[in-house]
Amino acid sequence: MRNNVWQAGVKVLIAAATLGVATSISTVAHAETPYKVEGTSVDKATFNGWKLYKRQRCETCHGPTAEGGAAFPSLVAALKNMSAEDFKATVLNGRNNMPAFKGNKAVVDGIDGLYAYLKGRSDGAIPPGELQELP
Ligand code: HEC
Repeated sequence: MRNNVWQAGVKVLIAAATLGVATSISTVAHAETPYKVEGTSVDKATFNGWKLYKRQRCETCHGPTAEGGAAFPSLVAALKNMSAEDFKATVLNGRNNMPAFKGNKAVVDGIDGLYAYLKGRSDGAIPPGELQELP
């Protein structure tokens, strides 16, 4: 009886380890970009990120192409060295003259897409201007 329980435990551990390996392999396979882009068409989450960028006033300060201006940093430049976690923390908590967005439900819910959009701009993969949603 005890032996069976122990064996079951080992099986669970092996299954978990296998799953872990499978997950890291698929993560590597998808690690390239958090967005999909074909020309001016992007995946749904990224498309929503673009809309948030315009509607939630990011654009007002960081500019329509996200390249910043006199008093505002270029997000195209910033995201070359900024992790997704740092990006989210900065946007949600604010920093100096950067307002906090943690009270803004649309931004909180869409933060991954916002990051994906700006990462795509930073990578030079997503062009500035109008986008469409991939079918
Ligand atoms: C009122 C103007 C304003 C708005 C609106 C604004 N930002 Fe900012 N943002 C700033 C300023 C100013 C900084 C520089 C903060 C500092 O000096 O530490 C900044 C910094 C940042 C940074 C860090 C850049 C770096 O170089 O480290 C990110 C990322 C960022 N903003 C994203 C956003 C996003 C996404 C939005 C919209 C949801 C947004 N910002 C809206 C003014 C703004």
